[in-house]
Amino acid sequence: RHPITLQTLNERRRTGQPFSCLTAYDATLATLAGNAGIEVLLIGDSLGMVLQGHASTLPVTLQDMIYHTRCVARADTTSLIMADLPFMTNTTTVQTLQAAGQLMQAGAHMVKLEGEAWLAETVTALTQRGVPVCIHMGLTPQSVNALGGYRVQGRNAQQAEAMLEAAKTLEQAGAAVILLECVPRELAGRIRDALEVPVIGIGAGPDVDGQILVMHDMLGATTGRAPRFVRDFMADTGSISAAFRAYHEAVTTRSFPSPEHCF
Ligand code: KIV
Ligand code: NA
Repeated sequence: RHPITLQTLNERRRTGQPFSCLTAYDATLATLAGNAGIEVLLIGDSLGMVLQGHASTLPVTLQDMIYHTRCVARADTTSLIMADLPFMTNTTTVQTLQAAGQLMQAGAHMVKLEGEAWLAETVTALTQRGVPVCIHMGLTPQSVNALGGYRVQGRNAQQAEAMLEAAKTLEQAGAAVILLECVPRELAGRIRDALEVPVIGIGAGPDVDGQILVMHDMLGATTGRAPRFVRDFMADTGSISAAFRAYHEAVTTRSFPSPEHCF
């Protein structure tokens, strides 16, 4: 397989072939995921919860993200590697540029930031310097304290319009990818259709260009109650590699997510 690039994702959007993404935090599982065809590997700050045992992503540091990005970048894979900017590394454009620079030097091919239209100037500055940006909208876990919990976003018409407008503004500012977490299926489809860049969803329904899940969740390694949008691909497969292949197949054939995974 040729290395997956931003151009690959744009092509997949253009031709209507969905692509699959998973979080990855270490070289071994990143290699297996890549071998199973997963197009994008995200070093998510979800590692604060699934690896470090914290109750939220807020304690994750830039050094933690750099360490795990280096681990994943050593994987034998042609997948596109995306890394999260952790909580409060976006207080100024300069700070964000410096933090993103370190993640790129650790081996990321693009960075992801949580936020809305207020990030536009920073997105432009990153893009101008050759750092492709994904903006994570909807349920943004770094804002869990402001949101009052992990809940669906954009449920009323006013919030939905605001999210749609923010996505357009960020695309205009240079965002290369938009990721929507926990938004109603219909809104995710509207945002996707209003944009030209690829849209990745998690708990956002099937009408987007790519899907992502936290690796531990799709392997059935969830402690506590799994979110509604998760499917346990280990349950019917029995090996990690087979579960990755089943997920890739389900995403590319649009059999995941199905209605029970949607809002
Ligand atoms: O940190 C993470 O795992 C994420 C995904 C859930 C999109 O941001
Ligand atoms: Na994240």
